[in-house]
Amino acid sequence: MDLVSSSAAETERAGMLLGERLHAGDVVLLTGELGAGKTTYVRGAAQGTGSRAPVASPTFQLVRIYPGRVQLAHVDLYRVESSAELRDLGLEELAQQGAVVVEWGDRLDVDGSALVHIEHLGGDRRLIRTIRDLNH
Ligand SMILES: Nc1ncnc2c1ncn2[C@@H]1O[C@H](COP(=O)(O)OP(=O)(O)O)[C@@H](O)[C@H]1O
Ligand SMILES: [Mg+2]
Repeated sequence: MDLVSSSAAETERAGMLLGERLHAGDVVLLTGELGAGKTTYVRGAAQGTGSRAPVASPTFQLVRIYPGRVQLAHVDLYRVESSAELRDLGLEELAQQGAVVVEWGDRLDVDGSALVHIEHLGGDRRLIRTIRDLNH
């Protein structure tokens, strides 16, 4: 599934549609360069889970938790440097408690995860490509 977004609001809406479908146990890996719109997409996903928490890039916090209909754990691996840090993330526990979305998700390999790639097309245009959808 490919979708061309022409604004941050449109990317947020695409994220919201995913968020509405999230269940506990889902892991969604997000890829795309800096400024592609990953955090924007997660902002929509959080809304889709019914969360009203403000979504910010958890760059200095590996994980932010947004309570909602289903808890959403927002992970950002941008600054993660070692595989030890990846292990200490506690991904399995987070996935037991709720759904997980991971920015810079190409640094992880998670069985059964969904994969969404966002590509900068110039200006405000972005290609949102669902490479692997949720498995339900
Ligand atoms: N179509 C679009 N989709 C997403 N973000 C967009 C779009 N057009 C412009 N932007 C802007 O691009 C930036 C994307 O930033 P962000 O979501 O933090 O990216 P990332 O998390 O991938 O680094 C924001 O400033 C956003 O307002
Ligand atoms: Mg980001």
